Amino acid sequence: MTTPNPLLQVRDLRVQIGDRNILKSVSLDVSAGSLVVLMGANGSGKSTLGLTLAGHPHYRVVSGQAHLDGRDLLAMNAHERARAGVFVSFQSPPDIPGVKNNLFIRSALNAVREARGQEPLDAFDFLTSARAAAQQLGLPEAMLARPVNEGFSGGERKRNELLQLALLQPRLAFLDEIDSGMDVDGVRAVVQLVHQLRAKGTALVVISHYLHLIESLAPDTVLRLDQGCIAETGGLDLARSIAKTGFTRSPELAEA
Ligand SMILES: Nc1ncnc2c1ncn2[C@@H]1O[C@H](COP(=O)(O)OP(=O)(O)OP(=O)(O)O)[C@@H](O)[C@H]1O
Ligand SMILES: [Mg+2]
Repeated sequence: MTTPNPLLQVRDLRVQIGDRNILKSVSLDVSAGSLVVLMGANGSGKSTLGLTLAGHPHYRVVSGQAHLDGRDLLAMNAHERARAGVFVSFQSPPDIPGVKNNLFIRSALNAVREARGQEPLDAFDFLTSARAAAQQLGLPEAMLARPVNEGFSGGERKRNELLQLALLQPRLAFLDEIDSGMDVDGVRAVVQLVHQLRAKGTALVVISHYLHLIESLAPDTVLRLDQGCIAETGGLDLARSIAKTGFTRSPELAEA
């Protein structure tokens, strides 16, 4: 899958955890304002791709390349990637006890703003925009004053990822099963925010197992990852075919 002048360009990425090959050869391009849906059976390597692009230290890149707007992501630390505009939401967002949500998000936002040459937001201005975004996402304002994700329900954690996404306005957003555990209003908020970001030129990679969300997102491309390799590339037809026949389908079923 190659695109002229993609914002994100990944080539032949091979990734190990310990001595186990997880990604064997992954290539993909994502242009500004376009959306790629990544599907694949449990354990096929989808989260590994996101966490590798984010710079998670457990994932060792053995070979291959990843560039964001021509800049070598793999040569950057995780915080440098975030400052360059990479945002990866966690499939299972962790707790950060003792760190207040509003301070955490404001620090991240001001680091990104500094990298963009913008003035930092003071506590008042930040809270004004954070409250507005939280309200739009259906996240109670009280969540801003609590430690990050501590005691949050599954759906609240996912909405908190959405809040960060809405405030950080990344250049590349990699959303790992952001819809899982969310109620119907939460899923609607995902679709709305994704469409808003896309219109502003954010490149998106969205992992999901659910056809309903995938159809609502109107992706440009659907990829199927299988055992660390991109096995199929298509559009909504591919997502519908997977929903109908599963991942262990025979080639004849896949064409049906
Ligand atoms: N620390 C680790 N040690 C060994 N294997 C690991 C480790 N972390 C991940 N893996 C393996 O890497 C493979 C890919 O995992 P990954 O989380 O990327 O899958 P996934 O496609 O996101 O699956 P799911 O749909 O269940 O979220 C899995 O087989 C997983 O067990
Ligand atoms: Mg996963």
